Amino acid sequence: MGDRWYSEAVVYCLDIDTYADSDGDGVGDIRGLIGRLDYLARLGVTCLWLHPIHPSPNRDDGYDATDFYNVDPRFGTLGDFAELLHQAQNRGIRVIIDLVVNHTSDEHPWFQSARSSPDSPYRDWFVWSDNEPDDRYQGMVFPGEQRETWSYDRTAKAWFYHRFYKFQPDLNFANPQVRAEVKKIMSFWLQLGVSGFRMDAVPFIIELTEPGNPNSPKDFEFLTEMRQHVQWRRGDAVLLAEANVEPDQLPTFFGDASGSGNRIHMLFDFMLNGRLMLALAREDPEPLIDALHDTPKLPVGGQWATFLRNHDEIDLSRLTTEQRNQVYAQFGPDENMRIYDRGIRRRLAPMLGNDRRRIELAYALQFSMRGTPVLRYGEEIGMGEDLSLPGREAIRTPMQWSYQPNSGFSTADPEKLVRPVIDKGDFGYQNVNVTAQRGEPKSLLGWFERMIRTLREAPEIGSGSTTHIDVAVPPGVLAHRADGPTGTMVFVHNLGTDDVEVDLSSLEPEADLPIDVLADRGYGELGKLGAVKVSGHGYRWIRLCRDRGF
Ligand code: GLC
Repeated sequence: MGDRWYSEAVVYCLDIDTYADSDGDGVGDIRGLIGRLDYLARLGVTCLWLHPIHPSPNRDDGYDATDFYNVDPRFGTLGDFAELLHQAQNRGIRVIIDLVVNHTSDEHPWFQSARSSPDSPYRDWFVWSDNEPDDRYQGMVFPGEQRETWSYDRTAKAWFYHRFYKFQPDLNFANPQVRAEVKKIMSFWLQLGVSGFRMDAVPFIIELTEPGNPNSPKDFEFLTEMRQHVQWRRGDAVLLAEANVEPDQLPTFFGDASGSGNRIHMLFDFMLNGRLMLALAREDPEPLIDALHDTPKLPVGGQWATFLRNHDEIDLSRLTTEQRNQVYAQFGPDENMRIYDRGIRRRLAPMLGNDRRRIELAYALQFSMRGTPVLRYGEEIGMGEDLSLPGREAIRTPMQWSYQPNSGFSTADPEKLVRPVIDKGDFGYQNVNVTAQRGEPKSLLGWFERMIRTLREAPEIGSGSTTHIDVAVPPGVLAHRADGPTGTMVFVHNLGTDDVEVDLSSLEPEADLPIDVLADRGYGELGKLGAVKVSGHGYRWIRLCRDRGF
């Protein structure tokens, strides 16, 4: 393992409320999750990212907190949380939590106090304007669900700013007290034993909002400050940020102009996400080749977090209109599958027609790309979505554990469940569940276990450098390599439907008894690299050489 654990981690994200319910009240809880840690350890996960755990009225699935120093009582107690950290650590699993401090819930006592009077000590913790700002209808994150970014509050007799929903007033990061409080919140959870934070909405946290100015200045120095603070409190803590911005802005989030990585350790690669979807839709690797060529160079210690699906829509806003329409045509043909004029609210398996070969190909591609892979719960068994649920809830249904009622998620009456279990069709829990797959090596779950184990034997992917192998290949094929001090891995993925042969003989001089370490089927002895066979929608991960001293 390299110096930085996060470079070689496998991150798994989940919502406690839809994972496992231990007390039968219909809501998943911390004790339920503790009971599933062995499952996660067997899968090979090394880090859990928990979606918001704080008390919340849950109008945005917990991304609207009312107390940053506690856990939602529906999930358990702080004691249960400390126990979770201990039990996870026993299994070599770290835990990071969502830090959602761009805004609070409007029910948070800070906002309640702030709105009550201009003299409230919390008044200046939020962003106010006495007059209606000119940019009232600009900068909405949830078009269709959100009307404005400035709303009038009758109690406060003033306008308040909310980048997201109206019930999520933005905290005022120009106020030193707010900055100090956020650091205190981070310290609190680090002290309890979390290994870091998935930082929500970072570009908006550093925004110094000026009424009427839709392009308010950004204070990147605050990221440097937060990093300093976190690192002093816990040396190996990591910051993983959501910053879905233009590619040329990304380096500034990793570090300042000196070139040192003194800000965020890891950023989600939203650009790659869109390109992966485009490449899969077109069955053409071109967008991925572009990604390998033009990804900004990162400072030492900077790392991408790759993903295919997360808890939000697939955001295609960084693709051109034509590209976006190609992805829609393949993966979101119905209006009901799309959201916010920019994305798709579906899980991967149904988008790929539940075609096992294409699902494996997609995940083999993601996990072989530079960066730390993030996997969303349920994807490892090929769960589907429920498009009858509103908005992003479609992809937030309970984990499907078994054939038991409610998929083994909960013993509560179905109408008491936090969200309905998918119980119909190909993706119903009767067809897709952990019990059915865990004893079956050929299952998707069995494949994920094997693939993740293979990844852990190939630290070059996380810690090394990944490049496109620029040789003539048949259409549909991507050849890339990962090089690190531990050796070299070569990957051949065939996005197309035809069986092909790829000439990689130019790698022969570097090869040292190359072998397949993961492939969609048994291809027999690899032999010479001049004619590497790959089936349609197939893939081969080849260990080219290992460092001899290793
Ligand atoms: C982030 C989260 C999203 C949430 C929003 C507001 O984008 O990923 O789920 O709704 O922030 O907090």
